[in-house]
Amino acid sequence: MTVTQNPRGLDDPAIRARVEELLVDMTLAEKAGQLTQYFKFNLPEGEGTVGDMPQKRGEVEDALERGEAGSLLFVTDPAETNRLQRLTVEGSRQGIPALFGFDVIHGLRTILPVPIALAASWDPETIERGQAVAAREARAVGIHWTFAPMVDIARDPRWGRIVEGAGEDPYLGSAVAAAQVRGFQGDQLGTPERVVAGPKHFAGYGAAIGGRDYDEVDLSDQQLWNIYLPPFKAAIDAGAGNIMTAYMPLNGVPATGNRWLLTEVLRNQWGFNGFLVSDANAVRNLVTHGFASDLTDAAARAADAGLDLEMAISDPAYAHLPEAVESGAVSIEAVDACVRRILEVKLRLGLFDDPYVDEDHARTVLADPAHRQVAREAAQRSAVLLRNEGTLLPLNAEQLRSVAVLGPLADSKRDTLGPWVFDYNLDETVTVLAGLRDRLGDQAEVRYAPGVRPAQRTFPSMFEMFPGNANPDPEGFDDDAELQRAVELARTSDVAVLVLGEWHGMIGEAASRSSLELPGRQLELLHAVSATGTPVVLLVMNGRPLDLRWAAKNVPAILDIWYPGTQGGAAVADLLLGDVAPGGKLPFTWPRTVGQVPMIYSHTTSFEPQNQGKRYWDEESTPLFPFGHGLSYGTFTYSDLTLSRETVSRDGHLTASITVTNTGDRAGDEVAQLYIHQRHGAAARPVRELKGFQRLHIGAGEARTVQFEIGPDELRYWNAAARDFIVDATTFDVGIGSDSTVQLTATFATTA
Ligand code: GLC
Repeated sequence: MTVTQNPRGLDDPAIRARVEELLVDMTLAEKAGQLTQYFKFNLPEGEGTVGDMPQKRGEVEDALERGEAGSLLFVTDPAETNRLQRLTVEGSRQGIPALFGFDVIHGLRTILPVPIALAASWDPETIERGQAVAAREARAVGIHWTFAPMVDIARDPRWGRIVEGAGEDPYLGSAVAAAQVRGFQGDQLGTPERVVAGPKHFAGYGAAIGGRDYDEVDLSDQQLWNIYLPPFKAAIDAGAGNIMTAYMPLNGVPATGNRWLLTEVLRNQWGFNGFLVSDANAVRNLVTHGFASDLTDAAARAADAGLDLEMAISDPAYAHLPEAVESGAVSIEAVDACVRRILEVKLRLGLFDDPYVDEDHARTVLADPAHRQVAREAAQRSAVLLRNEGTLLPLNAEQLRSVAVLGPLADSKRDTLGPWVFDYNLDETVTVLAGLRDRLGDQAEVRYAPGVRPAQRTFPSMFEMFPGNANPDPEGFDDDAELQRAVELARTSDVAVLVLGEWHGMIGEAASRSSLELPGRQLELLHAVSATGTPVVLLVMNGRPLDLRWAAKNVPAILDIWYPGTQGGAAVADLLLGDVAPGGKLPFTWPRTVGQVPMIYSHTTSFEPQNQGKRYWDEESTPLFPFGHGLSYGTFTYSDLTLSRETVSRDGHLTASITVTNTGDRAGDEVAQLYIHQRHGAAARPVRELKGFQRLHIGAGEARTVQFEIGPDELRYWNAAARDFIVDATTFDVGIGSDSTVQLTATFATTA
């Protein structure tokens, strides 16, 4: 799908004329109001506040009627959207409609696998199709804009938001970012049944020191330009209409007030002409950072840096913009530039012509069964088969008489959906237990035992303020008896399927961890069940790599199912019984233990590389599973790697081709991955860098020849000495294989 020349349509003369007409008639307070986005929580009433949020009752409605709330978030009920929209369209002086945004990260009502799972599919089409469903449901209820995709590169799994992104690699991250933008937004802003895509959090948020969410980030220029910025650039090139700024200081300067980042890079270098929004309260937070002296200073410096819209819970900093303009702290021109971008996107979306949403249509869209099928296929294609000793998988339904399904996560609808979901339908949610029971019917007896109680966070999750998010802590749960009951079920079954991992509140925002161990007594359950001698299939429900050292040696089959979403259990049954073959690949390096973190595949060659795997004296320095790892039910060999040329100019192109053969007796999916290594040049470059991938479905005994283009886009890198992107005249090694450990067996040279 080609993105149109003007994906955001912000150069339309009719739109420009209408903007000027509105702008000239606005007061300073109304201009500041257009730049203010309020949370509108649907929470039980506190004494005068909304739930336990510091927002006064009626504060938002009053602002809407004054024309001083340009945008809202967290409204997902179409009737409520219409009620609030009417307050500003019919109640305010200029009747400018509000823009409704929300976190539709991996689905609204139909929940897709979490984003890290979608990335693990290495399948842009699946990702695009899934986010198009999410967009259709969001737009139907009156949401115009999603705060997604989250494109932060994450290389420290202690950081809980790794679950929201596409992992450690800029090439994979860029492909996933673009696919999500296409899915959300279509080929241009304002496409029916689509929403504005808002990549976040600009920029570098995933590099928080210690993996501690919100903590500061220090990145070198070459890390920024080669690793953390590329997915944002890919999202913008795909037409994203919005960018959200990050909470934290980047190299000492808070991202939300960082003029270099928001204007110099984003607008001047990249030509981004969409609109910017801060993260929640991040403008007020400029005072907390010790960057701004007070809220007026914060408002002035954010607006001057190029931040258009302030996301606020209450008492917005941008309410101080009139004072800032009058004092000369920020120019009216800077403020008007922000207001123009907000008015333009509202006009482009057609909100002035059609500000309300059809509530009957919303119900029809949300009930569309086709959405569940898309979610099921996405869950099938996201799963990563980490181990399959003795090809225990797929299970043979004909031979199965009894299956023990164990672990509390196996029967938890809420956890099957994962984090960042609010408007889901648990009645439609299929757990692993339900999926296996539906699939096996009366063919085999499927018995369940939790084995252990749900584990709890030491410090509660901030998302527990939303109903249904607290982890159940069953009254009278007899730990030892329950463990024994689970063991007995395993002992008397043909196979034991354990679902182990983290509970949904243990991953995502404000969910950093100092450990990667399985929480609670889950490992004890795994040991005890394994000791029965019954074959064990371990299903991992997670959003970050977990410490699976024991399992990787002792459990024959390990399938990472992530948080697989509304149809997760059905997809898992499809995979376990061989109706479909797993084909996902890891989007991050899977460390053995937290002590190895950060661990990436694209490190450079340092001193004594022959000891690369022995840097620690107490543990191997290699990963448990490498980046790009994933098995299928076929077995694949790679042969005949050829390059179309042995030398190429630095702006030239060549083609790499290879044959992939499925030597197994079952069809399967494989992701052929192209890696390069630059031998020498103006900087020491990584031992491998992913520069191409293709997901293939290959029948048993069949072969496919695939080709990859290599050119300046794949070879250039930002060089700290040149302070620009360069392509060296050098020699490159090339390899194509099934993960990042591929041997690099071909070479070519670039000439000066
Ligand atoms: C949160 C998150 C951001 C989200 C926003 C609105 O704090 O950092 O990703 O989009 O607030 O919910």
